[in-house]
Amino acid sequence: MNRPNRPPRRLCLLLALLLGILPGCGRSAAPSRSADGIRVGVALYQQNDTFIATIVSSLEAAAREREADEGLKITLNITDGRGSQATQNEQIDRFLSTGYDVICVNLVDRTAAAVIVDKAKSAGIPLIFFNREPVREDIMRWDKVYYVGAEAGKSGVMQGELVAEAYRADPEALDRSGDGVLQYVMLEGEPGHQDSLLRTEYSIKAVTSANVTTEKLANDTANWNRGQAASRMSQWIDQFGGRIEVVFANNDDMALGALDACHAAGVEPLPFVVGIDATPPACESMRAGELRGSVYNDSPGQAKAILDLSVALAKGRSPSEAVSFKEEKYIWLPYHKVTPETLDEVVPPAE
Ligand code: GAL
Repeated sequence: MNRPNRPPRRLCLLLALLLGILPGCGRSAAPSRSADGIRVGVALYQQNDTFIATIVSSLEAAAREREADEGLKITLNITDGRGSQATQNEQIDRFLSTGYDVICVNLVDRTAAAVIVDKAKSAGIPLIFFNREPVREDIMRWDKVYYVGAEAGKSGVMQGELVAEAYRADPEALDRSGDGVLQYVMLEGEPGHQDSLLRTEYSIKAVTSANVTTEKLANDTANWNRGQAASRMSQWIDQFGGRIEVVFANNDDMALGALDACHAAGVEPLPFVVGIDATPPACESMRAGELRGSVYNDSPGQAKAILDLSVALAKGRSPSEAVSFKEEKYIWLPYHKVTPETLDEVVPPAE
């Protein structure tokens, strides 16, 4: 119908957009962003993962500290993807449509990043991926996409060095058969995860480059999980008995699972078991003399970087003044070797 006395509809839309008052369109239309506070959505791949739970508690502690220091209200909305990318996508869509200032994503499926980046870009909401690293092309898809994590290969090297150093200090304690070769089994994290692939490869490379000969008896994935690791390990105990001298586990939960299986089967003495993360239960096991080494995966450091970057992005401040970058995109936190002797010095008490 012709409405001669009213300005054309397209002109109204344009004016409304310019004034930022059009409901349901673009970033200006996002439901109320609080003037003095910030809202950060945090989408986890799986909340009951022990290491991820330590990142969450450090993130909450860092937010409370920042609130107290700056008088800034920080709302963290934490969602659990429960291992389903479809569930996580819905959670992220909700953050996008309800006007969050920043979204932090611990991807379920590392290859699913592109679609999330494209949606965030059109909503104008910055994204921080953490712990589960998307491919570089996805990180480079938009300038407001970042990654916070730790360089997986380095944790593998450190784990291998822990074994090589212990072997050099007391060869008979590790090489119990006395054949000059370390017989080992490898418990791997999720297939396709950058940490599983690189830790598996680099741990053994580090042992062999220290001139220690190894023989792999078996390897299998246990998906970062203590129960699954215990069941793999009990099969290997049945199969290889006391021939297993060293257990390499891509993380501490799986190392603890291997120890559970040794206890259940009455294996004595225990093999030399090493993990990665230095989580609170792993530290307890090291104190009890069971887990022989781990590599500290700095969850408080990663949480602080995520929070500092989130605040800078939400407040429109320069990110490089808040955190230190590699290539303006990546924030890497260092790993540290942990033995029962260095534990108290390297690992800060849990939050
Ligand atoms: C690794 C960590 C594992 C597990 C995994 C989940 O960095 O060592 O324990 O939490 O991340 O993505």
